[in-house]
Amino acid sequence: MIVDLQPFKDLVRNRCGLMLEGNGEETLKGALAARMHASGCASASAYLSRLGGDSAEFQELVTLLTINETYFFREPEQLALVTEKLVPRLLGLRAGAPLRILSAGCSTGEEPYSIAMALMDNLDESVSGKVHLVAGDIDHLALAKARAGHYSAFSFRGTSDDRRQRYFSPIGRHGFALADVVRDKVQFHHLNLLSPQIGPDLADFDIVLFRNVSIYFDTATREAIQRNLSARMKPDGILLVGIAETLANDLGVFRLVEEDGLFFFTKAKAPCAARSPVRAAVKMPPVPIKAAPVKVPTKPVAAPVPPRPVFPPASAAVPNADGLEAARVLVRDERYEDAARLLRSLVDADAADMDAALLYAHVQNHRGAFAEAEIQAHRVLEHDQFSVAAAVLLGFSARSQGDHQAALRWFKQAVYCRHDCWVAQYYLAETLRALDQAEPAKRAYRLALQQLTGAPDPDAGLGVPLGLPLAEIRFLCERHAGAAVANGRR
Ligand SMILES: C[S@@+](CC[C@H](N)C(=O)[O-])C[C@H]1O[C@@H](n2cnc3c(N)ncnc32)[C@H](O)[C@@H]1O
Repeated sequence: MIVDLQPFKDLVRNRCGLMLEGNGEETLKGALAARMHASGCASASAYLSRLGGDSAEFQELVTLLTINETYFFREPEQLALVTEKLVPRLLGLRAGAPLRILSAGCSTGEEPYSIAMALMDNLDESVSGKVHLVAGDIDHLALAKARAGHYSAFSFRGTSDDRRQRYFSPIGRHGFALADVVRDKVQFHHLNLLSPQIGPDLADFDIVLFRNVSIYFDTATREAIQRNLSARMKPDGILLVGIAETLANDLGVFRLVEEDGLFFFTKAKAPCAARSPVRAAVKMPPVPIKAAPVKVPTKPVAAPVPPRPVFPPASAAVPNADGLEAARVLVRDERYEDAARLLRSLVDADAADMDAALLYAHVQNHRGAFAEAEIQAHRVLEHDQFSVAAAVLLGFSARSQGDHQAALRWFKQAVYCRHDCWVAQYYLAETLRALDQAEPAKRAYRLALQQLTGAPDPDAGLGVPLGLPLAEIRFLCERHAGAAVANGRR
């Protein structure tokens, strides 16, 4: 067992930025044990010096430390902004010259391929063909999977059946292979965001997507990465971070812009005097969308990729209390497949364990297994008809499936059972907004904001590790409640 993890944590952080604190330490321990065994290093110090000079071995270690959680059409509002507005606008500005888009931290490829599909759906081939899609990640196993273009149902949580049928064909027992016509549109390259070295393949971008990556870095690393990204971008390039990451990335490197309620950054042309997200935000005019004919994909041919090791292995023989704690750790690490296996065994072992049932429902929502999530949540409601957590999880399930009316009913029920549950109040507001009920939505945002003052429980007392970013949600509440300036960061 390795007692002193610090030199390994420092090495990883200095080379690629990843912070391995808290639960990350357990991941690091498992990864070190696996790689020391595989590389035949008998001691931690021998392995540390090996890592110092062997970049291939470092890459192998990194593949065990990254979190590759992603799916097609994640945060679709942003993808629509890129493909329906920013791309046509920039193409207009560039007078026909090609555009370059980078998916930075692309994981297994769902993000760049989603853009490729959306562009094909929204633009004529003569126009979409001018967009060059490039994607990069530090994890070479994730890149291999991305290049292969083979996916499981888990990757389609946010994809309509129609799109899946048009662009994928069944492969194996449960898999889906991406059509060559989409696969060929994306070039994948190995990329370390923290490295300032810029080769021609990964330079001159008009748009960079850096979504759901910055959460693994501290502020200094995020700023260093933003400077590197800026150097890879054209002078008026645009940077998008994940919807909940805006505030944490408003670091003065780029200028924040708001358009249609969504935020992105531009490479600053003028000094950034105002750094507040609200005061710095600049409105941009909307651009019309061009409709496109539907394309029929061809069948792809790609090599299978070996499965990745799993730490720790799922076990069916753990006592429920210990098992539940282990499952919570897996959920916090976003290791939903492992968590689902463990929780299934816990629920089977003790049908009366409502905490396990709730956590299982939460995990199944994340995996897109909504029917199972709902079964578990309804079991909890049979046990306790006033369970706020069950109502919230049913709301999440309905919302993820695009059923805003059902989501509205569940979030209202949750608020009815516990009016001070900020998660229920916030998602009630989001759902009302999605249903164009502007005034009730504003009221709900204001209530959520009140509940988010002070030091609220990040899990809103639901007993489920939600992993929601409080500061970002506060910011969004402020914005949508129409009170953004009053409480905004100065
Ligand atoms: C959670 S995934 C995000 C995938 C996708 N952007 C999305 O939003 O769905 C984060 C990815 O960032 C990658 N990553 C982490 N550190 C990196 C670094 N220093 N350079 C490049 N990629 C990195 C990880 O390997 C992982 O695949």
